[in-house]
Amino acid sequence: MELEKVLLSRKSCRKFTDKAVELDKLEKVVVSASLAPLGLPRMCTPMLTVVTEKELLAGLKGIYDAPAVIIVSCPPSPAPGIGDQNAACVVEMMSLMATDLGLGNIYLYGVTANLQGDADMKAKLEIPENFTPLAALALGYGEEDVAVCKEFVNKLNVVRK
Ligand SMILES: Cc1cc2nc3c(=O)[nH]c(=O)nc-3n(C[C@H](O)[C@H](O)[C@H](O)COP(=O)(O)O)c2cc1C
Repeated sequence: MELEKVLLSRKSCRKFTDKAVELDKLEKVVVSASLAPLGLPRMCTPMLTVVTEKELLAGLKGIYDAPAVIIVSCPPSPAPGIGDQNAACVVEMMSLMATDLGLGNIYLYGVTANLQGDADMKAKLEIPENFTPLAALALGYGEEDVAVCKEFVNKLNVVRK
């Protein structure tokens, strides 16, 4: 897809079918994450946890029964907010790649907020203790096909000086 078409097709998917995501598609989504810009890349490198095991998915709250979830966790950052910003860049890259591959997807904060207070689940997912889950992408085949659903109009306040 052309970039503009991908941007106009990306929207949050909250209804997934049971169909599993093919491994090669998951791999492309994972690789897209590594193309994201990162602040303090050597000190604040995010780690990804790709969850597709049903038992583990069942322990995650707020993922809309998606068949795959990629959790982005970061180590403590020497500069405030860098981990959150890195996680956001990574998730958005993955979201656009998933959209391009025809996968429904949604950026999620809630699941990671829950995980932050759930040491057992963090351990089951093998997220190191000093890493904080900050953002996630749920993905799968949506009940609706991915298609252009928006117009190219500005919705934000923009000050031009
Ligand atoms: C930082 C961030 C956190 C979000 N967290 C959640 C979440 O926990 N649960 C949820 O259902 N949607 C979450 N969303 C999705 C937003 O609700 C959604 O992107 C917004 O309503 C715009 O809709 P669209 O993605 O279809 O354009 C989050 C989005 C962002 C960018």
